[in-house]
Amino acid sequence: MSPRHPGDAGFETRAIHAGQEPDPSTGAVVAPISLATTFAQDAVGEHRGFEYGRTGNPTRAALETCVAALEDAAHGLAFASGMAAEDAVLRALVRPGDHVVLPNDAYGGTYRLVARVLAETGVEWSAVDLTDPVALGEACRDSTKVVWIETPTNPLLTVVDIEAVSRAAHERGARVVVDNTFATPYLQQPLSLGADVVVHSSTKYLGGHSDVVGGMVLTDEDGLAESIAFLQNAVGAVPSPFDCFLVLRGVKTLGVRMDRHCSNARGVADLLVDHPAVERVLWPGLPDHPGHDVARRQMRHFGGMVSFLAAGGEQAALALVAKTQLFTLAESLGAVESLIEHPARMTHASAADSPLAVDPALVRLSVGIESLDDLLDDLGHALDAVT
Ligand SMILES: Cc1ncc(COP(=O)(O)O)c(C=O)c1O
Repeated sequence: MSPRHPGDAGFETRAIHAGQEPDPSTGAVVAPISLATTFAQDAVGEHRGFEYGRTGNPTRAALETCVAALEDAAHGLAFASGMAAEDAVLRALVRPGDHVVLPNDAYGGTYRLVARVLAETGVEWSAVDLTDPVALGEACRDSTKVVWIETPTNPLLTVVDIEAVSRAAHERGARVVVDNTFATPYLQQPLSLGADVVVHSSTKYLGGHSDVVGGMVLTDEDGLAESIAFLQNAVGAVPSPFDCFLVLRGVKTLGVRMDRHCSNARGVADLLVDHPAVERVLWPGLPDHPGHDVARRQMRHFGGMVSFLAAGGEQAALALVAKTQLFTLAESLGAVESLIEHPARMTHASAADSPLAVDPALVRLSVGIESLDDLLDDLGHALDAVT
């Protein structure tokens, strides 16, 4: 297939081949880890696409082409972390005095970047419930430049209607950025739903094996891609060639992994719904989830993340996360192994005492791709012990 026509091939074909034709000099079928920091020039300013390793690198270019093909985007840019990707997008889009609308349950790191880093430079922000069109309308100002969507959100699994919010934001002259980390392009493609920019923490499902930190930005806008590429080079928060190789390798199996994450998550959600130690299960696949209908429309499946409120409150939640054995107590998500965590004290501690503070009874599961029976045994025993 030709990566110049990514739309022509199926998702898994793009994941395995886009940007990854056999190496023309050796025939290697895997994109080489190109460690060179500088590239020979035929004459001053005449080169074969690469000059200096911060500015561009062949392994990074392969990753950027591949993920752009998966999101059906004209441009892909890789960063050293999801936060570096978010920082570049926001630097490109907002100036002092501009206003950003955040979801009221955004990832804590996104909140911290806007409220504690950009706010210091005079950027203004509001956190709103993006499932409420009236609240969104009231939050938007003449100075609103960005409406930031995360869907499903981390950790509450709120589902936001990308198409509806994009329409409303565009009417007010704002751009829409979607953090697609939880859904991945396999489950949902925000640009095709009207968003302007997609960001990823590729540390999560794209990498998929808990062994690489990275971030991605995707957009169809040439001028914006140029501004972000300028920042990528000028600020220099770029991933190493080895990191790019790891994400690229992870992406090859994204589709099959996501299918298993999603079916295991369904099994886990069914167990939780029926357990007396659980007050409420948050998973978009459950028919009573407030975002179920939107998720059905804009996602292929419902995702591998499941959160729930422990019936016994914070103490029960803390006891539970200490009791599982196969579900490892750890931050992060989206990899082959199952993880359990307490957002209020771990991943979302940075949002404590803010409008984005998380219920201390909340437990978040990243459901891995292990044998479902083993996952259910492990979780079932831990739940029984705190009932
Ligand atoms: C939804 C979401 N966006 C962005 C990030 C930040 O990514 P990174 O940790 O790769 O900087 C995370 C990290 O957990 C996340 O969960």
